[in-house]
Amino acid sequence: MTSFLNDHPMTHSCGALRESDVDATVTLSGWVANRRDHGGCVFIDLRDRDGITQVVFDPSICKSAFDQVGELRSEFCIAIVGTVASRGAQKNPKMATGAIEVHTSHLEIFSTSETPPFLIEDGIETNEALRLKYRYLDLRRPEMQKKLRIRSKASQAIRTFLSDNSFDEVETPFMVKYTPGGARNFVVPSRLNPGSFYALAESPQIYKQLLMVAGFERYFQITRCFRDEDLRQDRQPEFTQIDIEMSFISEVQLQTMIEGMLAKTWKDTLDVEIPTPFLRMTHHEAMLKYGCDKPDLRLDLTLCEVTEPAKDCGFKIFEGTVKKGGIVKCFRVPDGKRLSRSALDALTPFAKPYGIAGVAFARVQDDLSWKAPFAKVFTDEARAEVNRIAGAQAGDLLLFVADKAKKANTCMAAIRTHIGDKLGLINHDEFRFMWLTDPPLFEYSEGDEKWVSSHHPFTCPRPEDEDKLLSDPANVLARAYDVVLNGVELGGGSIRIHRADLQGKVFEALGISAEDAEQKFGFLLEAFRYGPPPHGGIALGLDRLAMLMTGAQSLRDVLAFPKTQKGTDLMSEAPTPVDKDQLAELYIQNTALPTKGSDSSENES
Ligand code: AMO
Repeated sequence: MTSFLNDHPMTHSCGALRESDVDATVTLSGWVANRRDHGGCVFIDLRDRDGITQVVFDPSICKSAFDQVGELRSEFCIAIVGTVASRGAQKNPKMATGAIEVHTSHLEIFSTSETPPFLIEDGIETNEALRLKYRYLDLRRPEMQKKLRIRSKASQAIRTFLSDNSFDEVETPFMVKYTPGGARNFVVPSRLNPGSFYALAESPQIYKQLLMVAGFERYFQITRCFRDEDLRQDRQPEFTQIDIEMSFISEVQLQTMIEGMLAKTWKDTLDVEIPTPFLRMTHHEAMLKYGCDKPDLRLDLTLCEVTEPAKDCGFKIFEGTVKKGGIVKCFRVPDGKRLSRSALDALTPFAKPYGIAGVAFARVQDDLSWKAPFAKVFTDEARAEVNRIAGAQAGDLLLFVADKAKKANTCMAAIRTHIGDKLGLINHDEFRFMWLTDPPLFEYSEGDEKWVSSHHPFTCPRPEDEDKLLSDPANVLARAYDVVLNGVELGGGSIRIHRADLQGKVFEALGISAEDAEQKFGFLLEAFRYGPPPHGGIALGLDRLAMLMTGAQSLRDVLAFPKTQKGTDLMSEAPTPVDKDQLAELYIQNTALPTKGSDSSENES
C-alpha cells in the first residue's frame, strides 16, 4: 500500500473533475458510496470530503481492475487510477462532476468495511442516538462535513481578524481554583494534594482580567469551557468560547470591534454582508416589546403591556392579577383571521408549561369593538385604551396573558415566536443581529433570598447608579451587553470594575463578606492593588455561532463529538465508573479522606 501511495499521489479530489479534464490520467481516493452493475460495466460513486465522482470499471479497458471490482462494498476505502472521459449525453447536471466519469485502469483497496448501520448520505432519518454511537460514520455524510467545515472557516476568519487587530492569543488554565457559587463546576481530584480538587474552568474570566493587569491590552482565545448545568439544544457541558478582553476601551468601542469581527466572519465564511452597526436595544425595551432579553428581530411583531387599563377593566381575571402585583401583556397579531379558532384554543395548552393558566383572545371588529368571551364585561374605556396602546386595527387579533411579570413575559415571548413560525413570518435565511444593553446588575434569587449577580460580580454598574447599590439594588443597571442573533444569545460581556472601593460595594450588595471575597477571589483582588487598567470584554459561543451560520437545529450538529442531553458520549460511553483502586488513590469514596492538617507529606513528594 505504501508503494502505491508513493507511486500514485492523489491528483484530484472527488469533487474536482470537469469536462476540461477529459483525457487526463488521474488518481482519486475515497469511499465507495454506491455500486451499480450495468451489464458489462460496473459503476462506482467514489466519495471524499469534496464530492462524488462516477468511476467506471470496463473489462475492455482493464480486465484486472474489472475482476477485482466484485469485491467492493459500500464504505470500502479505495483509490483508483484512470482516465477522465466525457459522459456526453448522459451528463448529470445535479452533480458538480456530472459531466465526466473516470475509466479505471487500476484499483487499490486500502481497507474493507462492514455494512454501516445507516446510509452515509444526506437527509437520513436515522435516530440521533445511532448517529452519535457511530459518529465517525455520521461525520462522513456530506451535510455534516459541510457544517464542520463552515465552523472551521469561521474560526479562521475570527483568528485572522483578531490578530490583524493586534490581539494576542493567550492560553489560560483549564484546571482552576474551585469557587462555590456561579455555574456548577466539574471538579478534578488532585492526587498530589489529597482531598483537594481543581475545578474545570467555566470560562477564563478571572485570567483574562489578570492579563489586562499584566498589560496585554488586547487578548483573545478560542477556548473550551466546562459547565455542569442542565443541557438544552443550545447548551453543552463542554463548549467553545471566543473569549476577548480589551483595556482602555468604552462599551461602544468594544462593540464596534465585535461587529467588525462578525461581519468579516459572515463575509469570509458565507459571503453574506452583515450591516453594521447593529441595532442597540435596552434590556427594558426588549422586555416590554418582546418579553425576553434575546428577541428574534426577524419577526416584525411586538408585545405591549396593558396593565394600566386592565386595572379596572371589568374583567375579573385581569383585575385580580393586577391587584396581586401582576401584569397584563398583550400581543397584537395583524390580520388575525389567519389564526383559526382551534389554533387559538391550542394556545392554552401551549402556555401551560410556562405556568400560565390561560391565553385570552379578542378579535377586533370594524368599529374596533371586540369579539371575545369577555367582551361584554370589558368596559368601553378600558377597551379603547388597550386598542390605543396596542395600535389595534380592524381585523387584528389581540392575545392576552395575565400573571406575574416574569411568567407572563416568558410565556408571551414564546407565543410570539410560535405564532410567527406558524404564520410563516420568519425568514429563515436572514441574520438579524442586535446589542442588548443596560441589563440589571443584580437579580433576586427567591431560593437564596438574596441578590445575585445577573452576569458576574466583576461587572461594572452604570456610574449614575453607583449610589443605589445598597439602597435600591433592583434598579441598578450594568455596563453589560449581549450580542443577540435571531433570538439566540450569541455572546455576553461587560465593562469590569477596576476600582477596589466599587468592587467592595458590589460584594457588599451581594452579601459577600470581605473574608469570603478574599477566599474566593483573593488573587484577583490582590492583583487589582497594582494599577489595573480600565477594561472590558466579551465571550461569544463558537458552537452557537456555527449552529446559526449553518442553520443547524442543535449544537450537537456543529460539534464533531458532542454529548447527549444527559451529558453522555454514546460512542465512547463516557462517563464510566473508575476502579476502586483509582478512587482510593484519589482519596474518594470508601476511603477516609485525610482530615485537615493531617500529615500528607508522603503524597507531596
Ligand atoms: P457567558 O456565561 O454569558 O459569559 O457565556 C458567553 C457565551 O458562551 C456561550 N455559552 C454556551 N454555549 C454552549 N453551551 C453552554 N453550556 C454555554 N454557556 C455559555 C453563549 C454565551 O453567550 N466570562 C463571561 C463573558 C465575559 O463577561 O466576557 C461568560 O462566560 O453563547
